[in-house]
Amino acid sequence: MSQTILVTGGAGYIGSHAVLALQQAGYEVIVLDNLSYGHRELVEQVLKVKLIVGDTSDRALLDQLFATHNIAAVMHFAAYIAVGESVVEPAKYYRNNVIGTLTLLEAMLNASINKFIFSSTCALYGEPKIVPIPEDHPFNPISPYATSKLMVEQMLSDFDVAYNLKSVRFRYFNAAGADPNGLLGEDHSPETHLIPLVLLTALGKRDSVSIFGTDYSTKDGTCVRDYIHVADLAQAHVLGLDYLLKGGESQVFNLGNGNGFSVREVIETAKQVTGKEIKIVESDRRPGDPPILVGSSDKARKIIGWNPKYPDVNEIITHAWQWHQKRHQ
Ligand SMILES: NC(=O)c1ccc[n+]([C@@H]2O[C@H](COP(=O)([O-])OP(=O)(O)OC[C@H]3O[C@@H](n4cnc5c(N)ncnc54)[C@H](O)[C@@H]3O)[C@@H](O)[C@H]2O)c1
Repeated sequence: MSQTILVTGGAGYIGSHAVLALQQAGYEVIVLDNLSYGHRELVEQVLKVKLIVGDTSDRALLDQLFATHNIAAVMHFAAYIAVGESVVEPAKYYRNNVIGTLTLLEAMLNASINKFIFSSTCALYGEPKIVPIPEDHPFNPISPYATSKLMVEQMLSDFDVAYNLKSVRFRYFNAAGADPNGLLGEDHSPETHLIPLVLLTALGKRDSVSIFGTDYSTKDGTCVRDYIHVADLAQAHVLGLDYLLKGGESQVFNLGNGNGFSVREVIETAKQVTGKEIKIVESDRRPGDPPILVGSSDKARKIIGWNPKYPDVNEIITHAWQWHQKRHQ
């Protein structure tokens, strides 16, 4: 009999792709999402998975959920993700991302569930001292969002020692792209990520794309980032889950391609993929934006056998474009 995995935030961008990958790997899935940002129809109509509309801070709901379903492990995507907003509303981020996660972990332990996959972020590293960034790079989170993720990582280390909670923490670089078969894609509101912003501009839904900073010491003066296909991220989660279910010890893994693309390169590629003009507005640097964020994922390749299928940024943008055209037709 297949095992059942609880996916929090499964109505969101990365979580919904993970649900699809879990289904394809033969797992049963239940989604818990409060729909603050997620899309009900993706879970119920596209993925056809049971959706429990509720919050990770709702201990009574979690206790009931764990008592009535035999959950083998939890994949935890639910969080608020807007870095800029976290600077002006830090309490919102600590409450949702830290207290929500603590409540979930306590309910899991109470139900004797001790396998947990966590969505962490390369934002923990701040401005990198070594590139590509390894997992043991020092931490320097520069936003409450990043600090909220670091706090959860610390809890996970302590909970392993004290309560034998086994976790895989994935530190994503820039998640991008869409399901290659066009079932799912990225639809954040408000949108803050570069590739969807560029594609929404190509579709005429936005007037222009802002480039924040053109005087960085990078190849063309704009910020360089490591874009990782969302389907490859999803696959890593399945591998991490298999690893934990086989009795693996807690681990932390970077997930990136190890290649950096500048903002201008992304926009140029998007112009080629879409065949559209994309108007650019050059603006000042944003505080806290490091010039280069590129990760080393050698550890994930070695320990869980992760091998990204779509490392090409052209392909990442092509899949995203297919989804955006369909979503906004
Ligand atoms: N998108 C990226 O590039 C990126 C990079 C690094 C890390 N991450 C992490 O990956 C995870 C998923 O990101 P995403 O881009 O899919 O975001 P998303 O906003 O699309 O998905 C998050 C989902 O969680 C739900 N949610 C939020 N708080 C909740 C709560 N308390 N209870 C129940 N549901 C709740 C939202 O409704 C949404 O459906 C997040 O934890 C984020 O911090 C994302």
